[in-house]
Amino acid sequence: RRATLYIPVAVHFPTGSESDRSCLEAHAQTQIDVINADYTKTNADHASNWAAAQSHYPNTTPGSVDVKFCIATKNHPTVSPAIADGNLAVTIGSQSGSYASTDVNTTWAGYMNFVIKNAGDGILGYSPLGGSISGGQCVVMNFGSYGTGSGCTGFVPQAPYNLGRTVTHELGHFYNLDHTFNGGCTGPNDNVADTPAVANATYGTPAPGSVAGCVAGEKALTMNYMDYVNDSHMYMFSAGQATRMEAYFATVASDWKQ
Ligand code: ARG
Ligand code: ZN
Ligand code: CA
Repeated sequence: RRATLYIPVAVHFPTGSESDRSCLEAHAQTQIDVINADYTKTNADHASNWAAAQSHYPNTTPGSVDVKFCIATKNHPTVSPAIADGNLAVTIGSQSGSYASTDVNTTWAGYMNFVIKNAGDGILGYSPLGGSISGGQCVVMNFGSYGTGSGCTGFVPQAPYNLGRTVTHELGHFYNLDHTFNGGCTGPNDNVADTPAVANATYGTPAPGSVAGCVAGEKALTMNYMDYVNDSHMYMFSAGQATRMEAYFATVASDWKQ
């Protein structure tokens, strides 16, 4: 198997204020800590919850991918104001124009770009399916669904989506994962064998095994990051999803900024 994949992240706060830089840099990092735990299955809530849930899901194995997200410090030389090498790739305020109408930033192609902006009323975030690293495609999160903790002015995480799981979910899309409920009870669903097919999304705080799947006796994997439950109730990818993400990583291997 391959060595750990280091993923260089650039975090963009186009409506932020440069005077808030120290707060926004710390806030940006709270999200990196969440995705590092979630993608490597070292999140504490997985350990504390799956043991009791797993009997409802005999055909599902939890999965992880060997990745490490780091806010880049080797920076693009031409952004304004310039971010010097050694400083964090966190852009604030200055590039608002480029993010108002597009979710592509070719200046930061080769990075995993997060943009925190108005994603639309009631929208937590969105992402392309199978995103382009070399093309500078971005994952977008709304103001209240990025990071954990108390946040910064204008960027305060909002319950029940305040544990950073929107980024875990959107990145899943970027790495080619569909929703677990994709296609409902027909077709190839999410193209992942070990996530039971289910007719609809589940919201809120369901108990494990409480939502019927499409196949008699099967239960919806509501605790999966690719469903719609509250942040507190999603805590795993499946092994099949991890395999699908690995296939994506293989196709973009040379696209990351070194
Ligand atoms: N509705 C959004 C999407 O489909 C994100 C859902 C994220 N859910 C969460 N608990 N944070 O991409
Ligand atoms: Zn989604
Ligand atoms: Ca499936």
